[in-house]
Amino acid sequence: MSSNERTFTLTDNQSGSSWDLPVMHGSLGPDVIDVRKLYAETGCFTYDPGFTSTGSCESKITYIDGDEGVLLYRGYPIEQLAEHSDFMEVCYLLLYGNLPSGEQKVKFEHDITYHTMIHEQMQTFLRGFRRDAHPMAVMCGMVGALSAFYHDSQDISDPKHRMIASYRMIAKMPTIAALAFKYNLGQPYVYPKNKLRYAENFLHMMFSNPCEEYEMDPVLARAMDVILILHADHEQNASTSTVRLAGSSGANPFACISAGIASLWGPAHGGANEAVLKMLEEIGDKSNVDKFVAKAKDKNDPFRLMGFGHRVYKNFDPRSRVMRTQCHKVLDALGVHNEPLLEIALELEKIALEDDYFIEKKLYPNVDFYSGIIFKAMGIPTTMFTALFAVARTVGWIAQWNEMIEDPSQKIGRPRQLFTGAEQRDYVAVDKR
Ligand code: SDX
Repeated sequence: MSSNERTFTLTDNQSGSSWDLPVMHGSLGPDVIDVRKLYAETGCFTYDPGFTSTGSCESKITYIDGDEGVLLYRGYPIEQLAEHSDFMEVCYLLLYGNLPSGEQKVKFEHDITYHTMIHEQMQTFLRGFRRDAHPMAVMCGMVGALSAFYHDSQDISDPKHRMIASYRMIAKMPTIAALAFKYNLGQPYVYPKNKLRYAENFLHMMFSNPCEEYEMDPVLARAMDVILILHADHEQNASTSTVRLAGSSGANPFACISAGIASLWGPAHGGANEAVLKMLEEIGDKSNVDKFVAKAKDKNDPFRLMGFGHRVYKNFDPRSRVMRTQCHKVLDALGVHNEPLLEIALELEKIALEDDYFIEKKLYPNVDFYSGIIFKAMGIPTTMFTALFAVARTVGWIAQWNEMIEDPSQKIGRPRQLFTGAEQRDYVAVDKR
């Protein structure tokens, strides 16, 4: 280790021993203390439940500055991508690391489009679910079941196999999500149309039926495209970490994505958009906002303002600002004025942002705060909100999964623990207990 390299010195106050821990520097963000040899050298583990201070990997995909409210996909600010790009281009960017040329973009979009159908046999699984099955339960099952259909792209050591599986996952998620939606409705499944672009195809599969074609509103199609961009990736969040951990054992990509869907489902994570709408409906009127803000501040009340707060953002989530703009555009396009839920959300945002509790804890609206209002206005049921999030996040999960597989330092993830249970003791026969 050269003398000018930064190190942290760790000293054991009981033995007097000390160790110099190397510090690694990234291109952006905090340095990291390399503790890979800590246990071998000190006999101690680190302890960080929830990983609030732990970097799990090196990544080049997404960067968040939580204090400044910055989100970059491969270096590009989310606001610029939301304004100038489209979801297919963002998928290419996340997967390959750079924006595509015109020719690359056309080929990528064509290749994704021609993977949007699912094997007809997949419908048999669907019939096994109750009609009122939550779409996320259906997606967990159906995506995991894809492992049974694509034996030709499961050699994860083969880059070609990994890319085919990646394209299949990105392409088939909207089809599976729409299938779950139609199954809930009791309507026939709508096949994808190759002439439609990704977001339009998704709306078509959700809202067309044999009796009439869905009339595509360009404002809604663009809103869906932007929403997919906003939700595409977000560093090592819970569901992405789940995909990486599942993938670290060599599990096939479809099984890993199914695990990511399961993790995203939780109300503290991707399930928050569904929880926000339920919360706004429970508040019911602007006049009740103060009461719910008080509940959120009450240490003895488990209630939290859904759509507020974030592990990383201690400023506005930049996605929530873009989402709020899209919310107004969608409501205007649909001719929805004085939407009570939006009125409540705006009042809630105003009061919370002026309240000392939220200010000192740096709790701001996150990506989920406005998305539910847009989805509801578009005629999407609450139970489908997290499924939409899963459709968008699939490209992030798969890009991170590929990066993990290609990382030469990658090994199976296997955390340790602080054991506080019973020390070793001998078995006692039942008649002696
Ligand atoms: C997503 O990780 C990602 O990047 C996720 C995501 C992505 O794109 O992948 O951004 C998507 O999951 C967004 C977050 C959606 N979840 C919600 O909106 C649910 C409501 N938010 C909270 O549950 C909470 O803010 C979390 C889970 C998002 C973050 O929790 P942390 O980082 O573990 O923070 P914490 O629970 O330690 O909270 C710190 C303090 C606590 O008070 P004290 O114990 O210090 O007194 O803030 C309080 C909390 O009680 N607090 C809240 C609150 N969120 C935190 N109080 C009231 N309402 C809230 N929403």
